[in-house]
Amino acid sequence: MHVAIIMDGNGRWAVKRGLPRPAGHRAGAETVRRIVEAAVASQVSVLTLYAFSADNWLRPRREVSALMKLMKRYLVSERLRCIENGIRVNVIGRRDRLAPELVRSIEDLERATAHGDRLLLRLAVDYSSRQLLLKAARESRNPTTFEEFERCIESVSHSVPGVPSVDLLIRTGGEQRLSDFLLWECAYAELVFSDTYWPDYTEAEFRAALDEYSRRDRRFGQLSGQLSQRSA
Ligand code: FPP
Repeated sequence: MHVAIIMDGNGRWAVKRGLPRPAGHRAGAETVRRIVEAAVASQVSVLTLYAFSADNWLRPRREVSALMKLMKRYLVSERLRCIENGIRVNVIGRRDRLAPELVRSIEDLERATAHGDRLLLRLAVDYSSRQLLLKAARESRNPTTFEEFERCIESVSHSVPGVPSVDLLIRTGGEQRLSDFLLWECAYAELVFSDTYWPDYTEAEFRAALDEYSRRDRRFGQLSGQLSQRSA
């Protein structure tokens, strides 16, 4: 199962407490740790988290720099935990605008965790679905199937190959939009929205979203009967 999360609400969480916005991102990084653990425990096989969008570069310099520092710290501090728990880390998005030391930490963690087989944790950094689709379209040589084009998207995104489409997309923070995230991969994703700000998002709420997903009737444009016949 592939779960993707738009982790929204860090800034408002901080402002509500009279704290600077980066404090919300720091609290959000703690939530990332907890939800990654919950994903492993719930046997989710792929978790893709929206950590920094291509448009986030337009935020105040102080906030961008705090987010980049946090990312770097996370990649270093989580190394052992990921290796011990069978978590393979993969950072998707552009890398040419990231600081060289951050790119080195990304490559190092990807190498160190490459054999993890319990959870593929994909962190989307400097990510824009539309930019990547455009790049894939430019660089692909006339793909004739969805699968071929998917390999092109994965290749331009620095994604590990063969990742299944998103089954469940969760967005926290009360907004209900996609924000240029995994537009191709979410073609048939089930959507679950939560009003909770990301730093307050709990393992219980995550499990409730998985339960909600399991109650949904996924038809992929067909009738329920047709799908159960095919899988029988
Ligand atoms: C959106 O909240 C969140 C982000 C732009 C950054 C997400 C980053 C983290 C959760 C922490 C760092 C990630 C890792 C993997 C260590 P917002 O700032 O737009 O919140 P707002 O809508 O309340 O302003």
